[in-house]
Amino acid sequence: MNHFHARRGSLWAEDVPLSRIAEAVGTPTYVYSAATLRRHLGVVQSAFARVPTVVCYSVKANSNLAVLKLFSDAGSGFDIVSHGELARVLAAGGDPKKVVFSGVGKRADEMEAALKAGILMFNVESAEELALLDRVGRRLGVRAPFALRVNPDVDAKTHRYIATGLKTSKFGVPFEEAVALYKQSRRMKGLEARGVDCHIGSQLTDARPVKEAITRVGGLYAELKRQGFPLTHLDVGGGLGVTYSKERPPGVEDYARAVLESSPHLDATLVLEPGRVLVANAGVLLTRVLFRKKTVAKRFLIVDAGMNDLLRPALYEAHHDIVAVKPRRGPKTTMEIVGPVCESTDVLGHARSMAPLEQGDLLAVKSAGAYGMSMASTYNSRCRPAEVLVDGGEFRVVRKREALEELWRGESP
Ligand code: LLP
Repeated sequence: MNHFHARRGSLWAEDVPLSRIAEAVGTPTYVYSAATLRRHLGVVQSAFARVPTVVCYSVKANSNLAVLKLFSDAGSGFDIVSHGELARVLAAGGDPKKVVFSGVGKRADEMEAALKAGILMFNVESAEELALLDRVGRRLGVRAPFALRVNPDVDAKTHRYIATGLKTSKFGVPFEEAVALYKQSRRMKGLEARGVDCHIGSQLTDARPVKEAITRVGGLYAELKRQGFPLTHLDVGGGLGVTYSKERPPGVEDYARAVLESSPHLDATLVLEPGRVLVANAGVLLTRVLFRKKTVAKRFLIVDAGMNDLLRPALYEAHHDIVAVKPRRGPKTTMEIVGPVCESTDVLGHARSMAPLEQGDLLAVKSAGAYGMSMASTYNSRCRPAEVLVDGGEFRVVRKREALEELWRGESP
């Protein structure tokens, strides 16, 4: 459920008309709903309330400080993948003791920063990374808490670009090698085994691979405990899908049941790394119609947001519903909704059936709260969009539109 809805013939975010935001802030602009963000986090927290759980919101999905602060205030921890994400979490007032550090290529300086901050654990993805973490830990005179991210070799049945749990992927350590690595870590004075971790992919719409993966890593967790490792945390990753158009992902309750049924009697604190499910449907991208154009083959609607602002359609052929903020009456026609970027893949919506639109009309690209602004770039030297957070009847700019001079900051002619 989200708090974007039609009222008096126009689209609103909570109690604010989107047209008012566009007038005040311009376009393209990402608009997030605080009530939706809070609600989504609350649903996840309550679905897992009967077991000890740390929810670690996956910062890469939407790393705006206001979003991080809102989640932190509501009790969330964070899943980070870089020093930059750690710095954002700390700048937003997040609790480092609820931070897990994921990612396949951490540098020594990033490990050091995270150790100094006192994070919950590192999710380690290779033998060489484990050796480096040990060296960094010893240099700082501490034991670095870690989990191995184990690759359970299951097919997540999602887009091949965002599946990570097959043994052909770069992620995690092979399941068969995990026990030997944990044993090695016993002799490494800069390390302390704290958990086991897995993450099989993103935009999962089927609970079965989740069950399969967690059953496998849960078995490994139990085996390691039997061997005397003082493990306390089982990290089951993120990945729960959302509805962009017709997908029917499991609800959070069903997902929780799948996770809990596959990890019974483990006596572990669960770590969750949800990203998309918390933020995707809490955000829209507001854009204006620049021009209409008709060729012999197609009709095009050229808007002022492009693939640099929202990369998902160009990169994954991802579908986002696109609606007029104030729909006009009239017969529908099929059109390509495209951005201004000089690439043929700069298509936000392919073959969309739309009621009449005119120059200057506002559109909302829906479900854009996850992997929208966080993947935006300045390609074609386009300033990145502004971001706005709506809370009830109020809204505020939580990131100013990038200014032209910022485009060449640090360059020297
Ligand atoms: N944990 C780890 C280790 C991850 O790699 C990811 C996402 C998550 C958690 C959060 O997954 P989520 O709950 O958001 O599915 N840019 C792509 C998605 C890439 C996901 C990368 N990893 C997209 O726009 O669809």
